[in-house]
Order: sequence, then C-alpha cells, then structure tokens
Amino acid sequence: MKNKKILVVDERESLVLLEQKARVFETLFEHAPEGLMVLNVRGEPLYINRRVLEMLGYSREEALNLTLADLLAEESFQDAMESHMNFFLGRDYRKKRDVIFRAKSGEKRIVSLSVSDYRLQGDYAILSFADVTEERMSLQQLKEANERLQGLDHLKSEYINTATHELRIPVTVIYSYCSLIKEIGDENLTEEQRQYLNAALESSERLTELVNDMLDLSKLDAGKEEMNFEENNIMEPIREVYTVLAPFASRNGLDMSLEPFQESVFACFDNAHIRCVLTNLIGNAIKFTPRGGKIGVSVARDGDEVHVSVTDTGEGIPEHYVPRIFDEFCQVKSDNGSPKGTGLGLAICKRIVNAHRGKMWVVSAPRKGSRFTFSLPVSRD
Ligand SMILES: Nc1ncnc2c1ncn2[C@@H]1O[C@H](COP(=O)(O)OP(=O)(O)O)[C@@H](O)[C@H]1O
Ligand SMILES: [Mg+2]
Repeated sequence: MKNKKILVVDERESLVLLEQKARVFETLFEHAPEGLMVLNVRGEPLYINRRVLEMLGYSREEALNLTLADLLAEESFQDAMESHMNFFLGRDYRKKRDVIFRAKSGEKRIVSLSVSDYRLQGDYAILSFADVTEERMSLQQLKEANERLQGLDHLKSEYINTATHELRIPVTVIYSYCSLIKEIGDENLTEEQRQYLNAALESSERLTELVNDMLDLSKLDAGKEEMNFEENNIMEPIREVYTVLAPFASRNGLDMSLEPFQESVFACFDNAHIRCVLTNLIGNAIKFTPRGGKIGVSVARDGDEVHVSVTDTGEGIPEHYVPRIFDEFCQVKSDNGSPKGTGLGLAICKRIVNAHRGKMWVVSAPRKGSRFTFSLPVSRD
C-alpha cells in the first residue's frame, strides 16, 4: 500500500515534468526564427508556427483548414506536390529548393523550403521555411539592371563606332586640304590668314588623332580588334619603338636608355599592339618630362610573366589622379595650359594589355617621376 502511494506520486511528478518538457519544445517550435510546418501525406497541417502565419498572412485557424495545395502558387504547384508525394513514397525528393507560395492577400512569396529527412511518428513531414522574396527580387532586379546596362553599353559602343567612322572621312579631307595649301605655298596669304591656316591645320590634326583613338578604343571594346598572340622576343618591338622615338627624346633634351641589356626575353604577345602600347608609354614619358630628365626602359622576367617598365623623372601624377589615370579622357590638369593629346592613350594601352591577360599599373610621385609597368604572360596557357 505504502509502495503504491509512492509510485503514484512518482508518476504524477514525471507527468508534470513531461508536460513541462512538451511546453518548452512547443515554445521553441512556435518561436523559431524560421517558419516550421508539419504536414501529413495529404498536405494537411498538423502544426504551423507563428513565422509561417506571419509570412502568409493567415490566422492559425484559417491555416489549419488549408492544405499545401491551397498555399502553393501555380508556378510551384506541380513541382512541390510531386516532391511532397515522393517524400512519403520513400522516393527521391528535393531536400531544399525555392518554392513560391501565395499569401492570403494574393501576394506571392518566394520561400527557401527545406524538408527534414526525419519522418515524424504518425507519418508527418517537417518543413522549414525562410522567406527569401526580397533577396531573390533584388537579385533579379540587379540582373535585369545589369542586362539593361550591358545593352546600353553595347549601344554606346555602336554609336561611337558609327559616329567616328562617319567623322573620319570629312576630318581627313579638312586635314589634307589644309596641308595641301600649306605645301603649295602660303606666300600669297596675309599673316592673319596664315595664322588661321595653321590653327585649322593643328585642330584638324588633333581631331584626326581623336577620331583614330576613339575608333581603336571602340574596336577593342567590341572585341573586334584582331589579336595575333605569338611567343616572341619582346626585345624586338621594344628596340624598334626605342629607335623611332630616341630622336624625339634627344630633341627634347632627354637622356633615354634601355637597360639592362638583354638580347632576348620571350613572352606571348601581339607584335603590332604591343608596339602601340610601347609607343604610347614612351611617348608619354617624353611628353611629360622636362628637359634634362631621364627615361629608362627595362624588361624583367617575373615567374610566368614578363614585366616591361617605362620610367621617367618627369612631372609625375598627383595621387588623386592615379586611380583614374587609365580611364578614358583622364588628363592631369596642369598650369602649362590645356594638355595636348586625346587622353585615350592609356585607356587603349590598358585594354590591349588586358586582352593579353596581362596587367598594367603605375607608380608615380609629383615632380619626381613615374614608372608605368605592364605584364605579359610568358606563354598562352
Ligand atoms: N609619364 C607620365 N608622366 C606624367 N603624367 C603622365 C604620364 N603618362 C600619362 N600621364 C598623364 O596621364 C594622362 C593620360 O595619358 P594618355 O591616356 O596617354 O593621354 P594623352 O597622352 O593623350 O594626354 C596624360 O594627359 C597625363 O596627364
Ligand atoms: Mg598619351
């Protein structure tokens, strides 16, 4: 008798404990940050937590009277129902996927749905939900905006390409006629007329340069520029460009050198385009270095790359210009009047080097000088 009483007390205590435990689990389930739902094979919910109700805008009573089929948006209906059946049939089912639900308001919510592989007693599936509507939407918007921008960028390239093509002929005509008049002899012209002619000649020359640079740039942007990559001795184009530009350097009172001496350094490159890069870089060094300065061209092998540097003791580039110096039309404003040139040379160089899978950078300090370097791969693979 005495023993039985003890047993009854024990049972009551463990019942209380069980109830307490159940309440803890229920609270955990109810207040989980993720949506949780327990469904039977027909898609009828045994339990739905607060987060799911908030997500779909139903009261608990309403939701408990609906089935999975009622909650799904038509886009996801077939796929989600099939997967649900497969789970109960023990077939392959998708453990995690995006499913579109229809909220009470009719609004669609994109939900990242995970199905636990644990089958609850009584044959129930446990589903967990995370509302990813905003994330997916902003991703979609970003994708669309990106596509729109790419379209616009393409249109811009086409537009520039067509416009510059159209400009090329009239600009060349103006330039040629002005040069012709000057060549034939401008002695019949008054001093004033001669000045006008020179101004027209100079402007049309700059215009021709601009049109040509813009055409080069748009061809590179459109990927229309043909490149012929070959493993070659980089010293050859360097020596060629050096020889052509050396007289200009010495005329400007500059000491130019190619050091250290190397017979051959092999890299993979397109000869004509790399000559263009070298002409631009050495040309800039000559243009932006005052008399008495020095210009050095050097080549060094660095692992799988070859580095070519053009160093000068010229006016340098102010720090805040450096990050933009390879952008189109970026020219440093100086006190010596408006800069000559198009501001497109470095942009062209960078695109050419990029097409070679190389890199280009500059280290510069105002009034001390600059060092422009580009890298080229030793081989194409
Ligand atoms: N070696 C250099 N030293 C100082 N400034 C330079 C040098 N190279 C380029 N720059 C600056 O970068 C600008 C852009 O160069 P670039 O694209 O070749 O255009 P451009 O020579 O037609 O002006 C130049 O206008 C100049 O301000
Ligand atoms: Mg230039």
